[in-house]
Amino acid sequence: MSEKKTKTAQATWGGRFNEGPSALMLRFSESVSFDKRLAPFDISGSKAHARMLAHVGLLTVRERDAIISGLDIILREINSGKFVWDTTLEDVHMNIEHALRKRVPAAAKLHTARSRNDQVATDMRLFFKHAATQLQAALKKLLYVLVTLADATRHVCIPGYTHLQRAQPVSVAHHLLAYAEMFGRDFARFEAFACNANVCPLGSGAIAGTTLPIDREFVAVELGFVDAKGHPQVTPNSMDAVADRDLFIEFASACALCGVHFSRVAEDLILWSSAEFGFATMADNFTTGSSLMPQKKNPDALELLRGKSARLQGNLHTLLTLTKGLPLTYNRDLQEDKPPVFDSLDTTLLCIEILSETLASMKLNPERCSQAVSDPLLLATDLADYLVRRGVPFRDAHHAVGAVVALAEKAKKPISQLSLEEVRTIHIAFGEDWHKVFDLQRAFRARECTGMPGPKQVLVQIRKWRKTLGKISVNSQ
Ligand code: ARG
Repeated sequence: MSEKKTKTAQATWGGRFNEGPSALMLRFSESVSFDKRLAPFDISGSKAHARMLAHVGLLTVRERDAIISGLDIILREINSGKFVWDTTLEDVHMNIEHALRKRVPAAAKLHTARSRNDQVATDMRLFFKHAATQLQAALKKLLYVLVTLADATRHVCIPGYTHLQRAQPVSVAHHLLAYAEMFGRDFARFEAFACNANVCPLGSGAIAGTTLPIDREFVAVELGFVDAKGHPQVTPNSMDAVADRDLFIEFASACALCGVHFSRVAEDLILWSSAEFGFATMADNFTTGSSLMPQKKNPDALELLRGKSARLQGNLHTLLTLTKGLPLTYNRDLQEDKPPVFDSLDTTLLCIEILSETLASMKLNPERCSQAVSDPLLLATDLADYLVRRGVPFRDAHHAVGAVVALAEKAKKPISQLSLEEVRTIHIAFGEDWHKVFDLQRAFRARECTGMPGPKQVLVQIRKWRKTLGKISVNSQ
């Protein structure tokens, strides 16, 4: 059965229509259910637009002030939850304009020299600038947790892994600082993204600007689309300005990459908290039990971090597919650009918070760590380096140590328990001191170039991070 048609033609664009959209069409086409979260940005944009219209003489000062105070009242209503959103008015822009027209006669002039196409592009750029600062503030907290934890674990050593096989010893601090590097890059990506978003599209109109004497630079300054010197930054092509969705894709991409980082960290911690590794225990609050197996303590927070990264990648994919092959300029398809972006922001913020708390509440098990790191095979490469110091070419040294490993395996003893005579049967360059290689602390002290896990170097990195974090001020309000 077909649904009833709405009786009145749509107020804002309905001039040429005899009938309004059907209820089914409204249900299909409305976006206010999700784009209402743009309201604060839409209202800022409208206030700035009204100031500009007055500045160029298209509104009187009295009309401007009436519009601005009307918009302020509407924003208060929205914030207090009293505003009634109406899906028959399609989107956030028309809901707000409609509410304003009921209060302020001059509201009928607000849409002068403006289209919803440049309006929504402006709203989204304001939204993106805000989103970037929220994410940066959250990442700063996560980095702080990592650096604090690294400081506390400078002397806890574990095997580092390649191919998930024990490779070489590292400190937990060095491992955690690797995560800090990843999230530090995410931070920088959102910073660069915010710069890209900092250009004002308002004044591009629907596609080709306007014949009215507007002042784009004025409105850009009003909205804070300015460079470091305070100069306005406006989009240089009206067609691109309303068609462009690059920022959406960049944002979803930065979130997806951040998600890849969560999932890699999560996977490490899932392994660490398994009985097999036992390096760490997750706090009860971030784990769950099994409805059947009473002994279980499952790392659900970490698993969900891994799972949510799939969703973040999905959002990116949605946006790439949405924009691919779209003709210039605005097409209604583009209304679908918002849900993935909103979801990417909300999911990423939540993941950062969960990861921060999970890390902060995690307990390390130093005995299990030291047991694992006492495996002398972790120092097989150091043994090759020992031979290199004694003049053996690295390839030969590598081969000789491989043979020593095989010998130990055959003799069913740890490599460090072989006698000097035994190892000398493999290479004559092994000397009395060959055994010192297995001193773990010595092995760490030998790794003090930039980027290595030597204790001094790790301390240098922790101090560098503390300094960097101290300098970052992000205003996420
Ligand atoms: N709600 C619309 C969107 O987000 C606003 C722009 C509508 N423009 C139009 N020409 N119908 O895409």
